[in-house]
Amino acid sequence: MKTAVVSTVLLASIASTSAFPLGRSITNTLGGLFTGKNKLTFDAKGNFKVVSFSDMHMGERPGDGSWAPWGPEHDAATQVVHATVLDNEKPNYVVFNGDMMTGENVFKHNATKYLDMVYAPTVARNIPFSSAHGNHDNAVRPEQHQPSGGNRIRINPLPHLSYTRSDVGPKPYGSGNYWVPVYATPTSWAPALILWFFDSRSFVSGTGNGPGPIPQAADYYWVDPDTVPSYIRAQRFLMKLLWWKVPPALIFVHIPVQKAQILAPLPSPGDHDDEPDPSTQGFYNNTYTGLDLPFWNEIIALDRSSNATGGNVLAITSGHDHGESWCARSKESSGIPICFNGHSGYGGYVTAHSGVRNGRVFGVRLEDLGKGREAPRVRTWNSYENNSTNDEVVLGPEYMAEYN
Ligand SMILES: *[C@@H]1O[C@H](CO)[C@@H](O)[C@H](O)[C@H]1NC(C)=O
Ligand SMILES: *[C@@H]1O[C@H](CO)[C@@H](O)[C@H](O)[C@H]1NC(C)=O
Ligand SMILES: *[C@@H]1O[C@H](CO)[C@@H](O)[C@H](O)[C@H]1NC(C)=O
Ligand SMILES: *[C@@H]1O[C@H](CO)[C@@H](O)[C@H](O)[C@H]1NC(C)=O
Ligand SMILES: *[C@@H]1O[C@H](CO)[C@@H](O)[C@H](O)[C@H]1NC(C)=O
Repeated sequence: MKTAVVSTVLLASIASTSAFPLGRSITNTLGGLFTGKNKLTFDAKGNFKVVSFSDMHMGERPGDGSWAPWGPEHDAATQVVHATVLDNEKPNYVVFNGDMMTGENVFKHNATKYLDMVYAPTVARNIPFSSAHGNHDNAVRPEQHQPSGGNRIRINPLPHLSYTRSDVGPKPYGSGNYWVPVYATPTSWAPALILWFFDSRSFVSGTGNGPGPIPQAADYYWVDPDTVPSYIRAQRFLMKLLWWKVPPALIFVHIPVQKAQILAPLPSPGDHDDEPDPSTQGFYNNTYTGLDLPFWNEIIALDRSSNATGGNVLAITSGHDHGESWCARSKESSGIPICFNGHSGYGGYVTAHSGVRNGRVFGVRLEDLGKGREAPRVRTWNSYENNSTNDEVVLGPEYMAEYN
């Protein structure tokens, strides 16, 4: 196709012009198109179902320098949770939304074994997947501290099933920022849906001993404001150039954006046990700084990129707070739905209502993705290890309209 060739050349030339500070760089083309991966498509009925799992916390062990009382039997129980949810939901894609392992407790020589264990139920079912970094994935045992942090995400554990990539880097400025296209049919030229993944990095990477950028005072951390916003902007621009539109977006980032804290008190279906506190993005010395806003402002721009009144971001979903499993939107989040994953692992802390483990499901239907200038919608619910589902809502302009 001639247009395709011209556009690709154009993309490449635009791509090579950007410069980034401190040796940081980005993959400046539409990286999601050049992965050599199988094209992901909606099924014949126009459905694409995503299950997202968060906070598996594999590798915890009592004693031996570990700070958690959980053990290998908990890792096995986590695999049963995933197997159950996957068999009940039969998704087309699985997202691992961070804290795959408790990095403080695992050893460098076999850390990736825990990732293989996290992915095993998904791999056994031959389901494509990818992951986002959590703060504990970056954490390392003190005696193994490296300047660059752990960053143990395996980019390619199984070349044909894993879609994890890194368009922005290098570590520790944040890797694992990327997007994955999903097409209506195998012959579609433009994607119908984009899955975006961002690295909220860790409070551990730069603390104390290393030359990393993360000061001791940061409570947690946030998406790199120097590279990722320009990355999103550039990708958005290139998408519009190539496809004349920016497809609807499902976004995953481990640490919640600070707006989540503002939405937490609103009545929305799902658990509200943690009420996200300074553990959202952008806090220094327990004080909110707004340093996460360059990222958030690009999420708003992405939301507004196809419909002047917004709605192009179907949801931005986080883990981190095990006791939160709701979705909400209001004026405070600029109408953008913010969702929590809940807790899918037997590692990590448990809150009053999060004892029954779950994954969050997005049932995307082509017919809901908006025709013309109509806003897209997505159905989402929690799917539990006890074989039940709950908290189903349809995210779109009607959801929590009274707060918008
Ligand atoms: C990793 O190695 C440690 C000892 O160095 C061992 O205790 C642990 O069981 C190993 N984990 C796996 C998954 O093999
Ligand atoms: C955070 O607190 C530390 C220690 O009190 C102080 O040195 C530092 O300047 C503070 N950082 C910010 C950004 O407020
Ligand atoms: C399964 O667990 C969920 C979440 O705790 C709960 O709402 C539901 O009632 C449970 N269902 C069954 C059948 O036990
Ligand atoms: C954007 O979508 C909403 C919801 O479907 C619709 O009411 C509105 O008219 C659209 N905006 C524009 C500028 O067309
Ligand atoms: C959920 O369903 C599976 C498959 O039917 C079954 O093996 C399992 O025992 C069920 N779990 C619960 C808690 O009912």
